[in-house]
Amino acid sequence: MSKGPGNPLDLRAWLEEARSLGELKEVAGADWNLELGTISELNVKKSNPPALLFDAIPGYPAGYRVLTCSTASPARLASLLRLGAERNHHALVQKLRGKPAQWQAKAAEFTPRSVSTGPILHNIVDAADVDLFKFPSPLWHEGDGGRYIGTGCMVVTKDYDSDWVNVGTYRVMIHDRNHVGLDMIPGKHGAIQYRKYMQAGKPFPVCIVIGADPLGYLVSGIEVPFGMCEYNYIGAILGESVAVVPGQLTGLPIPAGAEIVIEGYAQPGDERIEGPFGEFHGYYPGKAATAPAVRIERVYFRDDPIIVGSPPAKPPNDYSYSKAVMRSALLFDALLAAGVPDVQSVWAHEIGGARMFNVVSIKQRYAGHARQAGHILNQCGVGAYMSRYSVVVDEDIDPSNLQEVMWAVATRTDPVIDIDIIQRGMGSKNDPMSIAYPYKAPFNSKAIIDACRPYDYLAEFPAVAEASKALQDKTRAKWKDLLGD
Ligand SMILES: Cc1cc2nc3c(=O)[nH]c(=O)nc-3n(C[C@H](O)[C@H](O)[C@H](O)COP(=O)(O)O)c2cc1C
Repeated sequence: MSKGPGNPLDLRAWLEEARSLGELKEVAGADWNLELGTISELNVKKSNPPALLFDAIPGYPAGYRVLTCSTASPARLASLLRLGAERNHHALVQKLRGKPAQWQAKAAEFTPRSVSTGPILHNIVDAADVDLFKFPSPLWHEGDGGRYIGTGCMVVTKDYDSDWVNVGTYRVMIHDRNHVGLDMIPGKHGAIQYRKYMQAGKPFPVCIVIGADPLGYLVSGIEVPFGMCEYNYIGAILGESVAVVPGQLTGLPIPAGAEIVIEGYAQPGDERIEGPFGEFHGYYPGKAATAPAVRIERVYFRDDPIIVGSPPAKPPNDYSYSKAVMRSALLFDALLAAGVPDVQSVWAHEIGGARMFNVVSIKQRYAGHARQAGHILNQCGVGAYMSRYSVVVDEDIDPSNLQEVMWAVATRTDPVIDIDIIQRGMGSKNDPMSIAYPYKAPFNSKAIIDACRPYDYLAEFPAVAEASKALQDKTRAKWKDLLGD
């Protein structure tokens, strides 16, 4: 892929690749006010949805665009992660296995490269002229608290007492022409840095990258280790350092090929009501809450800028597929690292936001193998947060096929012995069920469902009543027109 001179995170180079893969659709005339969001939401519920590039948005100049659904197919995800052509999600998970550990190990070699100029500096707006409504930020859903300019974005901040630059994906709501709300859940790296500035009574400098190659928000939206800069991690994936220019007010590094960057400061004491906005599991959180307000004092944008949008919603949503693939690969690696043999496949289902309903298939080798796999799937480092159901199935079941998984649950379990419950596990205050919980802290309970044939009755277990694989393949080949591939 042509990356543009010195601009490895250039969105436009990637859009060309998506177009050549037949994975991009241009849409003219959709309104920012609910229409664009609803089209994207319906699109992403189709199988293998294209990415959508909205243009001619009423009330905005032609060329001011919004990209959605960018990571929602195996082919696009493979190209974003630079894994070569891949249109099958099982194969993609296999290609991805082991890669996150390699990227992390190599990240230190890919310090961002400072350059003096880049397309992001083509248009610069000073404080007095800042008007965030000049960009077609969508009102995504009817219940949202405002227009969200930042969803598939990268929020760049720096530690108060060290050189650590963090890049995180946190939602960004427009309050007025020059203020945005920044929702960083406590414990997230941006939130930790923000607290330090507030404790020192100092303004918190922020640059928000509103559009870039979606690899950017894919990485800033995953848990890169504390103290590591996501630009380094991105460089390790790309095999070259990200080219950055310094923000003119804050000095924070911004990708030279970014589409739009807004820069400013959160002032001590200025927290405002933010949201509501949907969560990855498909619900609005219970109460509106306050979040830091950032006063925007400079805006940078390319000619004909593109907002990258990726709103959460009831799954499947804009980014649930990418989370399912990434977390499935990480869970697979975690099971192997914990010593579980003969793992065939893992799938972190989109319906559970890739956290709450995960399935592993194994070839059972010994008594207790299935429970071991289920408990580790549920409790390993990548899996524990907000996990709810972990299901273990035999090797004849495809973990990503809910119909098959639930057939195994319905027919190969005796609930009284095949469901283990873990109490007071690692939950979240964002759990939609938390309103009904008795706990004072964010616990939840978890179920491990062993939907494998009972190991002690494997030989006698009834045979499956369906045509053999060989007969199915032969019949499909002969009756292709009738049955399809
Ligand atoms: C599209 C998208 C939107 C997200 N929105 C938020 C958000 O509003 N607040 C938040 O704390 N985390 C949000 N997340 C999750 C964080 O990006 C993720 O936990 C990431 O690891 C945070 O970066 P950090 O580890 O540097 O804190 C979002 C993730 C994605 C992919």
